[in-house]
Amino acid sequence: MEDLSIYSLTKNPIETFNVWLNEAIKVEQNAQAMSVATYDFTHKRPSSRYILLKGIQNNKFVFYTNYLSPKSNDLNHNSEIALNFYWHVSKKQVRIHGKVEKMSKKDSEVYFHSRDRDSQIASYISAQSSPIEDKKTLELKFAKAVQQFAGRDIPLLDNWGGYLVDPYEMEFFLYGENRLNDRFLFELKNNNWEVSRLQP
Ligand SMILES: Cc1cc2nc3c(=O)[nH]c(=O)nc-3n(C[C@H](O)[C@H](O)[C@H](O)COP(=O)(O)O)c2cc1C
Repeated sequence: MEDLSIYSLTKNPIETFNVWLNEAIKVEQNAQAMSVATYDFTHKRPSSRYILLKGIQNNKFVFYTNYLSPKSNDLNHNSEIALNFYWHVSKKQVRIHGKVEKMSKKDSEVYFHSRDRDSQIASYISAQSSPIEDKKTLELKFAKAVQQFAGRDIPLLDNWGGYLVDPYEMEFFLYGENRLNDRFLFELKNNNWEVSRLQP
């Protein structure tokens, strides 16, 4: 294996991810947007959607969502999750496999109340991914909550909070000339990250 440092990779893929993400934030439109794939047991098919990465805590990737949403239902059945970042300008992709756990209510609460008030209200009133007749009904729900909580904190309901993704596989991909892309796969084995180069 050649010297990984020429690819700004270190032995610890989380460190490398941070380097790549910080570089991406400088040049990409929405570097924290990641595709999040789960397994949908009801329909027996994979399911993916974009979510914003909100940080890395204790080497775990953090995002926030509705705990009663389809994705959360998938994760209740199967804690396996796949994340994927694509950074167009940087010509990079990072694929991550991991297992999720729910964040503590206390930590979710800290984040929830750090959001702007309108976002808190929007989360409060939304039964995420359930149908609604029209936009007007949604706006009415929003306006009612604005009134209801005037001068008060918006409560964090039990149906909203964070997930922590504990990674066990991470692949760093960099476009190469003539499609000879550079790909490095990190696999967690006995608490050690092992790395191998993959063919394009
Ligand atoms: C760029 C982008 C970022 C998003 N970030 C979030 C997010 O942080 N949390 C969230 O619940 N949904 C987010 N969404 C909406 C999700 O893609 C999705 O529509 C929603 O979570 C419902 O997914 P589900 O029905 O699979 O549970 C985002 C959408 C886009 C396009």
